[in-house]
Amino acid sequence: MPVAQRIEELRNELNEMARAVPTAHELMQAMVKRLHERMLKYNWVGFYMLEPGAQPPMLVLGAFEGAMTPHTRIPLNQGICGAAASSGQTVVVDDVSKDPRYLACSLETKSEIVVPVFAHGKVVGELDIDSHFAAAFTPEHQELVQDCARLVGKKLETSGR
Ligand code: SME
Repeated sequence: MPVAQRIEELRNELNEMARAVPTAHELMQAMVKRLHERMLKYNWVGFYMLEPGAQPPMLVLGAFEGAMTPHTRIPLNQGICGAAASSGQTVVVDDVSKDPRYLACSLETKSEIVVPVFAHGKVVGELDIDSHFAAAFTPEHQELVQDCARLVGKKLETSGR
C-alpha cells in the first residue's frame, strides 16, 4: 500500500478512535499501540507529559510502545524532548548522531520526531517517535504526528484527563 494511503487510513482510524474513547489517557494508550503496529518505521512511540506543578518543569514518560527507555523523566533543558516542549515547536531530527541534544534511548535509533501537545493554549506534553531508519519523518509523517498530538490536546480539553 502506498504510504500516502496508509497514512490517510490511519488518520481516519485515529479520528474515529478519538471520538470513541472516553478519556485522553485511553486515547494515548490506544494511539501509541496503533501507530507502532501500523507504521513499520515507528519503532518507539510514546508520550511524555509535563508533571503538574513540578518546579523546575519535568517531562514524565506516559503511554508508550517499544523497548523500555532509560529516560523516564526529562528536564526541559535536556534532549530533543526538552527542546520541543520548551519551544512549543515540532522538532524533526533526520540523523540523531549529528544532534548534540539527543539523549539515546536505543542504539538502533537513527531519526526522531517530537511534537508538542497543547491544551488550552499551553504545552502539556508531547508525542515522541523514534525510527531505526534515517530521515523517516518526511513532511507527510510530520502532518500525521501533528494531527495525533492535536487529537490528544483536544481530548484533554474536553475530558480533562
Ligand atoms: N531521544 C529523546 C529521549 C527520549 S527516548 O528517545 C525515548 C531525546 O533526545 O530527548
